[in-house]
Amino acid sequence: MIQQELVELQIHAERAARLAGAILADGFGKPLETRSKVGMHNLVTQSDLQAEQAIVTSLRAVTPNATIMAEESGLDYGSDSLMWVIDPLDGTVNFAHGIPMFCVSIAAVQHGQIIVGVIYNPLLDEMFSATLGGGATRNGQPISVTQTTSLHESILVTGFPYNVAENPLGCIEQFSNIIRRGLPVRRLGSAALDLAYIAAGRFDGFWEAVLQPWDMAAGVRIVEEAGGRVTHYGNQPFTLSMNSIIATNGHIHNELSQALEL
Ligand code: IPD
Ligand code: CA
Ligand code: CA
Repeated sequence: MIQQELVELQIHAERAARLAGAILADGFGKPLETRSKVGMHNLVTQSDLQAEQAIVTSLRAVTPNATIMAEESGLDYGSDSLMWVIDPLDGTVNFAHGIPMFCVSIAAVQHGQIIVGVIYNPLLDEMFSATLGGGATRNGQPISVTQTTSLHESILVTGFPYNVAENPLGCIEQFSNIIRRGLPVRRLGSAALDLAYIAAGRFDGFWEAVLQPWDMAAGVRIVEEAGGRVTHYGNQPFTLSMNSIIATNGHIHNELSQALEL
């Protein structure tokens, strides 16, 4: 796909993200109808569903043959090679508790390659966006990862899956390994924003044990275009079919990867 086609997809994704963002901003702080999905803390609100509907309608209008993978409605196969990967509200638990830390995440994927990524925080009106080979931006201005070269100077961010009590991949011990070093570690509650903040140079490194493609796809493209590095645990090349992630400024990647090993 040529750069101009990528930019067109990026414009479609940004438009859809703003539509969804307006729905989320409108619903934020109002009484909610929540219901649990799998597990007590895994919620879905009417805002997740309305935002997803707005994104799907907007993208369907401009790419009618694309496959759509959306968190709340699942997979809808289309006839062409383009796939949209959508998280209409990343940070639902924050949203449901009135914590202003959530976003919309939309990626375009073709032949397994993430070609466009857009993450939008409607409350701060921050649009993080990237195309493959085209660099990463925040509200249209280029962004890049930090230049921190060692783990002991780093500020990190992580998250925990809804089934954290089952300790998947030893995530509790991994967290303990890192905080025992005395490093500052934050937990924002939105994996997509965690990745956007790596790209914007707000954090040096991020790791999480169990994520879904819609949590990661847009952010991976944005981090890589901002000069960062993304792998699976153990430095294995990143693919959307794997569920763990390490994303860093590149310089601290091997050190963080080793520090997480149990
Ligand atoms: C969740 C957030 C959170 C991460 C969870 C995700 P949701 O997504 O990204 O930061 O720790 O693993 O499921 O449910 O708010 O879309
Ligand atoms: Ca999510
Ligand atoms: Ca979600």
